[in-house]
Amino acid sequence: MRSQARLFFLLFGLIGLVKCDEDEFLYGKFPPGFKWGLSVASYQTEGAYQEDGKGVSIWDTFTHQTPSPILDESNGDIACLSYHKSEEDVQLLKNMGATTYRFSLSWARILPNGTVDNINAKGIEYYDKLINLLIKNGIEPVVTLYHWDLPQHLQDLTGGWPSEEMIPYFVQYAELAFSKFGDRVKTWTTFNEAWVVCLIGYGEGVFAPGIKEISETPYKCAHTILKAHAQTYRMFDEKFRPKFGGKLGIVIDSGWYIAADENDPKDVDAVERALQFKHGLFASPLVFGKYPDIVRKYVDEKSQNEGRSSSRLPTFDEEWSTFLSGGVVDFLGLNHYTTQMVSAKPTRGPPSWYTDQDLSTYQDDAWPKSASSWLRVVPSGFRHILNWIKNTYGNIEVLVTENGFSDTADADWNDDDRVNYFKQYTNNMLKAVTIDGCNVTGYLGWSLLDNFEWASGYTERFGVHWVNFSDPDRTRTPKKSAAFLKELFTNNGFAKVDKKDEF
Ligand code: GAL
Repeated sequence: MRSQARLFFLLFGLIGLVKCDEDEFLYGKFPPGFKWGLSVASYQTEGAYQEDGKGVSIWDTFTHQTPSPILDESNGDIACLSYHKSEEDVQLLKNMGATTYRFSLSWARILPNGTVDNINAKGIEYYDKLINLLIKNGIEPVVTLYHWDLPQHLQDLTGGWPSEEMIPYFVQYAELAFSKFGDRVKTWTTFNEAWVVCLIGYGEGVFAPGIKEISETPYKCAHTILKAHAQTYRMFDEKFRPKFGGKLGIVIDSGWYIAADENDPKDVDAVERALQFKHGLFASPLVFGKYPDIVRKYVDEKSQNEGRSSSRLPTFDEEWSTFLSGGVVDFLGLNHYTTQMVSAKPTRGPPSWYTDQDLSTYQDDAWPKSASSWLRVVPSGFRHILNWIKNTYGNIEVLVTENGFSDTADADWNDDDRVNYFKQYTNNMLKAVTIDGCNVTGYLGWSLLDNFEWASGYTERFGVHWVNFSDPDRTRTPKKSAAFLKELFTNNGFAKVDKKDEF
């Protein structure tokens, strides 16, 4: 398989010079062995929030507040009931021809207090069963250790991710997960979207744990998460890779950015700055051992101008820099949804990650909308971000860990807009892989199921299966998009057909 894939890249690398029109639909196949599947996350789907010894997470606490910070005042107490529906969910994946499934572990389900001195056997059992079912059905599990549901006890004990006290707790939890599941799980990711955790959770306070400290705290949070990832990588390398093999990465979210005026060099520079503040801030330390130079320069200068004695962006000491510069990721997970326009006009507001960049972003009104205010449909952006990652990090392996489209709570399974989104976006990924030679090894769409969409509750549906949230049994119905993806997965690309009913 490996050499087949290499030959494929070589062949298409050669054709790489052939330019393909951005709007032209490309027929063709992905490399052999390309992974296809769907993603979910524990808090958004599992429910069973206090069953079988599960501890309380910051999302349980956050959603149970009065008044509720969630748009429809809902929570993930029941969500999709996936804790009780492993067989059914695996069957849905199988029906779609998926070869991969990405889910996250609920830390508090395994370790109710977050600490390894109290292991909840029932939690381990649940994931054991799910992993075994997947493997039995020929579906590879891709496991995320942290998709935002921190055990409340650890938040109380340490203050959460802005505190470096979190590092050993995370590493011990990761070690337990590797030791219990590493014999069967070969693809691991540590953190899902640290940008969202740090900016929205600990900066704006719109997500759990609801902390509003915009100026310095998000950078501290990012710094801790990067160190926790790196120490986990070292531990994985030393204790588990020799025994079980496998790969460890991190999931970074990034949109694409387009210069407001492509002839204005200031706007063009602002695009690169936006990318480095969004993606580079996380990937660069793990690949090159340091924050991107441009990020360092801007935050240091701003901090100095504010009369601070040190930068709001922390520094890795020499020991850390040396350790990190060896590279501490095997691949980069990418969550990509949308695109922004960028102009070099600074954003006003208190000093923060946003104002530090000296730019502003907005979306073009002409771009088709979704049900999420931040998500507009710009398929070519996917090809661009994949190429930027290829060029920035030496064609590092990329696994697309999320990509998807939302419609409203009252939408049904006739989800033509979602079909169109997936079709156009994955076609741009095909161009990135086969024409541009981007090293993408798989694609996991978001999401297998409609689910609890964080601060939006159940007002936005992202699933390829429609979930009936008023039915106590949370019945699932495949949408048109499930059928579309099935065809894509089984063809491993887009086959030219004459049929009228072709997607
Ligand atoms: C991502 C997140 C997912 C999901 C998705 C759609 O930021 O990782 O959990 O909510 O966005 O909004």
